[in-house]
Amino acid sequence: MDNNAILSIDNVSIMFGGLKALDSVTIDIKKGEVLCIIGPNGAGKTTLFNCITGFLRPSSGSIVFDGSISLAGMKPHKIASYGIYRSFQNLALFTNISAVDNVMIGALKRTQFSYSIADMFFHTKKFLTRESALRQEAENLLEFMGIAGKKDHKAGELSYGERKLLELARGLITKPQLLLLDEPAAGLNPTEKTELVRAIKKIREQKINVVIIEHDMRFVSDIANWIVVLDYGKKLAEGLPDDVKKNTAVIEAYLGTH
Ligand SMILES: Nc1ncnc2c1ncn2[C@@H]1O[C@H](COP(=O)(O)OP(=O)(O)OP(=O)(O)O)[C@@H](O)[C@H]1O
Ligand SMILES: [Mg+2]
Repeated sequence: MDNNAILSIDNVSIMFGGLKALDSVTIDIKKGEVLCIIGPNGAGKTTLFNCITGFLRPSSGSIVFDGSISLAGMKPHKIASYGIYRSFQNLALFTNISAVDNVMIGALKRTQFSYSIADMFFHTKKFLTRESALRQEAENLLEFMGIAGKKDHKAGELSYGERKLLELARGLITKPQLLLLDEPAAGLNPTEKTELVRAIKKIREQKINVVIIEHDMRFVSDIANWIVVLDYGKKLAEGLPDDVKKNTAVIEAYLGTH
């Protein structure tokens, strides 16, 4: 195990009936790096995120967070409480409420909630003070993601690219240590992709570890410090973006020539 790893995935396997969706996968996610996971449809990428976040339990292997916390068998909310935040392949925003409210809702996931339901119900001073501090924080995050101008717009009125940035802001309010993004660039146009790359680079500057599942090699090359290639549940290759791009096994997996 690498001591400098924020997450050590060691020999993780999972079966669905007769299908080995993950087959002895070992990945060290080093602190401070943006790691991209690429691979064809059905390679096991989302399944790996599901194992990390406790939605699925691996049949064997271990997943250790920050050197000592074994995540195997833990419930998703417990895993989230360590600062592991995950976005889904499909957006999960509340389209009928404002952008800033969507970000504030993200804070409900924080464990260190300092007011009770009663405080909330009676709108006590404690609640109102905390609420306005939270609103300020949410607005700052929208600014950080470059969509401050949309704070009072309903999430459903935002463009698809803006909604992706909003989703990131909602993730950031949980103060994550590890951000897992499942195909964040899917469906974005080139301009929106550039905006997303810019936003993820800013997130990395905050020393937040980022793991991204992505198909678009250009997007990946722009952002990744390290790439892992999955194919049929196995780790096919890993390395620096330029090296992985030259790897013929990777090219074959993508072109389907095997
Ligand atoms: N809950 C499940 N039950 C049964 N089979 C599953 C389940 N989840 C995933 N699979 C299967 O496991 C394999 C890996 O799926 P997974 O969703 O992890 O792929 P992926 O790499 O994320 O693909 P994509 O690029 O299409 O999102 C696929 O063959 C899929 O059909
Ligand atoms: Mg997937």
